[in-house]
Amino acid sequence: MPQRYDELIKNNQIWANQKQQTMPEYFARLSHSQKPPFLYIGCSDSRMPLDTFTQTEPGELFVHRNIANQVSVTDINFLSVLDYAVNVLKVKHVIVCGHYRCGGVAAAYEGKVKGLVGNWINPIRELVLDYNAELNLIDDIEQRLDRLSELNVIKQVENLYKTSIVQHALAECNVCFQIHGWVLDLKTGLIKELELPLEQWKAKGLVPVGMAQ
Ligand code: CO
Repeated sequence: MPQRYDELIKNNQIWANQKQQTMPEYFARLSHSQKPPFLYIGCSDSRMPLDTFTQTEPGELFVHRNIANQVSVTDINFLSVLDYAVNVLKVKHVIVCGHYRCGGVAAAYEGKVKGLVGNWINPIRELVLDYNAELNLIDDIEQRLDRLSELNVIKQVENLYKTSIVQHALAECNVCFQIHGWVLDLKTGLIKELELPLEQWKAKGLVPVGMAQ
């Protein structure tokens, strides 16, 4: 694991040279344009580079990351990323990917973090209160936090459907892209696709009737 700053620069030079030699067209193609089919909304956690876990290359994932993968409708940074991904890049899939052992989720559960970070993860604190009964049925604290990580992802997918960007896009083209909720298990490296309450959301008018998971 590199600890020194100059190791990063050296590693970059070695990687770029190797790539040039094995794939001479690689950087010419990369610098031309991007047409990624996926928008990845993930946690800032250093263990969550989705390209490694999905073997995707530069140019294949458009990315927005923040602490505990929040979809905040007041976050102008996030909304700009979503707008660009949906309306300009026209991605085919939007993926909200959380992870087990998420520090942000654990901190929200404990309710001890103050200041800006505490403020940022407050929506998860509200989830804890909403799902208190379900969560309390799980004795093991790590499993309880894992379930909270899943509930957090499902909530963020619901928030995505509530944005005017997604609502307008879906009204125009009905099913032009799909939204997925994932959690990554850091103990196995495997992605779990979460079942989303689409029927419930369709009944509320949040999701088009033709939408499938
Ligand atoms: Co996290």
